[in-house]
Order: sequence, then C-alpha cells, then structure tokens
Amino acid sequence: MRSIINEKNLKNKKILLRLDLNVPLHKNKITDTTRIDKIIPTLNFLIKEKAKIIILSHIGRPKGKVVKELSLKPVCEELQNKLGKKIRLIDENIKEINNKNFFNNYNEEIFILENIRFYSEEEQNDNKFAELLSNLGDMYVNEAFSCSHRAHTSIYKIPKFLPSFSGLQLDLEVNALNKITHEISRPITCIIGGSKISTKINVIKNLIPKFDNIIIVGGMANNFIEYFGNSVGKSVKDKNCDKIVDEIISLSKKEKCKIIYPEDVIVSKDLNGSPQKKELSEILSDEMILDIGPKTIEKITKIIDNSKTILWNGPAGYFENPNFAYGSIQIAKKIIENNKANKIFSVAGGGDTVSLLNNLNAVNEFNFVSTAGGAFLEYLEGKNLPGITALN
Ligand code: 3PG
Repeated sequence: MRSIINEKNLKNKKILLRLDLNVPLHKNKITDTTRIDKIIPTLNFLIKEKAKIIILSHIGRPKGKVVKELSLKPVCEELQNKLGKKIRLIDENIKEINNKNFFNNYNEEIFILENIRFYSEEEQNDNKFAELLSNLGDMYVNEAFSCSHRAHTSIYKIPKFLPSFSGLQLDLEVNALNKITHEISRPITCIIGGSKISTKINVIKNLIPKFDNIIIVGGMANNFIEYFGNSVGKSVKDKNCDKIVDEIISLSKKEKCKIIYPEDVIVSKDLNGSPQKKELSEILSDEMILDIGPKTIEKITKIIDNSKTILWNGPAGYFENPNFAYGSIQIAKKIIENNKANKIFSVAGGGDTVSLLNNLNAVNEFNFVSTAGGAFLEYLEGKNLPGITALN
C-alpha cells in the first residue's frame, strides 16, 4: 500500500479522492462533523501540493436513486467553511459530464461529485462506471477506511484503472487497528450495538473465537430477544435471522465466549415518546425497544469491570433522543472510569458511537477512536477488506 503522503510532484495532478462523508444529518444539518474534521489534514496536504481534487463520497443508503435528503450539499458547505475555499458540487448526471469541464479556471481546486450512491452502478462494483470515473482523474486516493469493507466501484474498482494510494487517515486507522489486534490483553469484551443489523450480525460468528464476551445491544439485540421467545413489538429487527442467531449461540458455547443480550429494556410507542422500563415478557405489540434497562446496565458494567480490553461499536439505544441515551451513556462512563484508572485498554468505533462520545466530550478518554463501524468489525474479524486489497 503506497501512501499519498510520500508522493512527490502532485502539482496539477487530478486526484480522485474517496472520502467517507457519511455524517449524521438532521433536517439537512450535520449533527456530528468528526468524519469531516478527520480528513481536513489530507485536503490541506493536497492543496499545499497544488493538486486538483475531485471528491467522491456517499451519504446514507439511497439504493441507486436520487434522494434529496441525502445530498452532499450540507457537507460541501461545511467543507468550504472549514477550508476557506470554494468547492463546486457537481450535481448533474455523472454519466453525462465531460472531464474537460473540470479545472478550466486556474483558481478551481476542488470539486465534489454528488452522492455516488445515487447511481446503482456504485454498489454493483461496475466496471464501466469505474472507467468513467477514472477518466476524471490522474490518480486515486482511498481516504475512506470506514467504507473499505464495501466492494463498491469507488472503493474497489477504480484502483484497477488508476495509480492508487492510501490517505493519511486511512494509514492511521490501519496502523492503530493492527497494533491493537496484535497487543491485546484478556479478558476481552466486544460491545456491539447500533442500527445496522444486517452488516453486523454476520460478523459476530467470526468474532466469537477471538473474544471472551460479546455484548449485543441496539437494534441487533431485538433479534436475540425475539429468538429467545419474547415479543419485540414494533422494534427494528432484521428478517430471517433465527438461523444465524442459532449458529451464534451454539458456536459461542463451543468457543466459551459468553453472548450477553438485554435482560430488560426501555420502550416507547414511537421515537419521540416517553420512556418506560419493561421486562422482556411485558413488551406490547405497539411498543418499540429504544434502550437497555437498569438490570442490563448493571450486568454490562460488571463485565467491563472484569475485562482488560473493551472494543465498543454501536450505541445501546436511540441515543439521538436523550430519553433513550441513558444506557449508552452509562456504558461510556464505565469504560472511561476504568480507562482513567488504567484498568483497561479501550477502543471505540463507528459513526454513531463517535457522535455519542463527542456529545459527552469523551473522545479523548478512549485509547483509540475509529471513525469506522462495519469496516472496524470486519478488520477485527481478520478479513481482507476489499478497499485495502485493491490498494495492495
Ligand atoms: C459507515 O457509516 O460505516 C460507512 O459510511 C459505510 O456505510 P454503509 O454501511 O452504508 O456501507
């Protein structure tokens, strides 16, 4: 893997720069800018080297359709403010644009293409689409570690057409995760939450042999709660997961890894409703699980006390509403307390987890915080990530 930082002669080179600007948005406003802040040094480096930059990124999961709410416009504005430079958002159809229209004006330095996932070809890892995009640049830089588990066109296919490099932040993340996975002390506990159930549930089986405890909270926990015979009302869950949950449970017994899922929960009728504590047997059909309950919090804090390494990926509840943030906050506080006392080594990852830690002003209280969620878990699994493989 060649890092862009070691490249000379970038002057006037057109760089296709894949970033992960998949930041949380609420009513078109960015609620956490961490992923933007982290790539500013890379942009400043390229600007200093007088390179011409074409940014590629996705936001959300528009599934090949133009979804107005998932435009990169607010991100473009934020980047302009942070860099103090004009950035042009290209919102016309990428398939119809002419690369001769880029950088004609000597003071044009940065373009950003509209959400690359507005094109179905992106997730299809399409050869023609990759060729078309590569024609816009002279070189490609992957500065999106958090997307590198996706074999998508802008991550995996473009490097087949252009000289390709890793970005500064990608180098940092890979080096830190390498160090962590080689110098781990046991007992080691992984806390997995968040809402991307399908991305994460398939990872768990491969994590079982590496961990002493896997604590499942957030959306995925609902699949476990239901598997063990409880109703989860109208909570988020993934369909047809019983087989995989079954495999997880039997493998965990064989490998002596404890799987922990909530014993009690906080429910509400909707995301803006008032919180109510419930035992698992009490959840009604019109209620949704939005946080873990007090017994579960106590159990998790005890496990944290008995662990030497904690990896945390994904909040325990719908933390965007403070009524349902308590469980996640208690987990964060316990990890921070033990980290300060030098009792544990702690790593957190994922866009939502980083956003939660930012709200608590606690990002610096962890040994390492990765912007990556799914990619972070797959890296821990020991998998070769397509985005990294393509650079090699
Ligand atoms: C993330 O938020 O983890 C990355 O942007 C990848 O998003 P995805 O899970 O929708 O591929």
